[in-house]
Amino acid sequence: MDLTGKVAVVTGSGRGLGLAYAQELARRGAAVVVNDVDAEVAQAAVDSIGGSGGTAVAEVVPVGTSEAAQALVDRAVSEFGRLDVLVNNAGILRDTTLWKMTDEQFDAVVTTHLRGTFTCTRAAAIRMREQGEGGRIIAIGSPTGQVGNFGQTNYAAAKAGIVGMVRTWAMELARAQITVNAVVPVAATAMTETVPFLKPYVDALENGDPLPPYARKQLGFGSAADVAGLIAFLASDEAAAITGQAIGVGGDRLALWTHPTETVVEFADGTGWSAEAIAEIWPKAFEGSKQTVGQQFEPES
Ligand SMILES: NC(=O)c1ccc[n+]([C@@H]2O[C@H](COP(=O)([O-])OP(=O)(O)OC[C@H]3O[C@@H](n4cnc5c(N)ncnc54)[C@H](O)[C@@H]3O)[C@@H](O)[C@H]2O)c1
Repeated sequence: MDLTGKVAVVTGSGRGLGLAYAQELARRGAAVVVNDVDAEVAQAAVDSIGGSGGTAVAEVVPVGTSEAAQALVDRAVSEFGRLDVLVNNAGILRDTTLWKMTDEQFDAVVTTHLRGTFTCTRAAAIRMREQGEGGRIIAIGSPTGQVGNFGQTNYAAAKAGIVGMVRTWAMELARAQITVNAVVPVAATAMTETVPFLKPYVDALENGDPLPPYARKQLGFGSAADVAGLIAFLASDEAAAITGQAIGVGGDRLALWTHPTETVVEFADGTGWSAEAIAEIWPKAFEGSKQTVGQQFEPES
């Protein structure tokens, strides 16, 4: 899957998943604008790509503002002449329970993930529409955005919002042949190394030990490199007809998420639904179909 001639911006690509995405896109021939807030890791990423025969430059700017978004698009155009692929990957965590979460913690996460994805995609879409040759927008969701997670009010809001924007943009940008998809990854990075139930697997990866099938398949947990193939695929011409999707990937697992959809529907007889009528029908029609909250894993056998 050759990406020669394509130009990609990958936000937050100094380390973790973003670095794996940038390296994989470059390995397949794309010229990459590496972005991070941390100048040192951004330069190291550029050096690693250059050292493997790829092409990359670093644009150090905190994603979240219109100015940062424009700087990234401008850098792609001034350096490589065009923009074909945007991967909205930059992210932070500020985890705590609702009653302890400060406005600053909420705003920091929403600004980086949600506003960052909005501003960067808007700037990229304007450029791609001008070019008139289509394009690829990839945004990054999370299992937390899909089903919720304890201690992640800000992150759940941002990640669910990102998938909502992706489905909207897929409609708005279809005519310009710009595809927009969400990737819902899981991988060992700085972001997951403190998650208690993943700890033994993070340790195993650090020691160079293979992960058990339960981790790679049921939990969908592996290395950042395990996720990068999906980014390259979505960036390629092969994926021209795939848009508006939320695709889960991690370890040996690849999955298509549904959007929220009605699972049980009952109708009133032209009178609408009174509280009493709902109380009567709930146990019969809805109780058995209540939805779970949080990720549900099959127990290890
Ligand atoms: N690791 C996982 O299992 C997992 C699961 C679901 C979603 N994600 C998402 O994947 C993305 C990457 O996560 P990761 O695990 O690689 O995290 P990471 O912390 O290893 O890397 C994130 C990178 O983004 C950079 N960054 C932070 N704020 C920035 C900003 N405003 N502008 C530019 N760069 C910024 C950081 O400096 C860092 O280099 C995030 O959007 C994250 O929410 C990760």
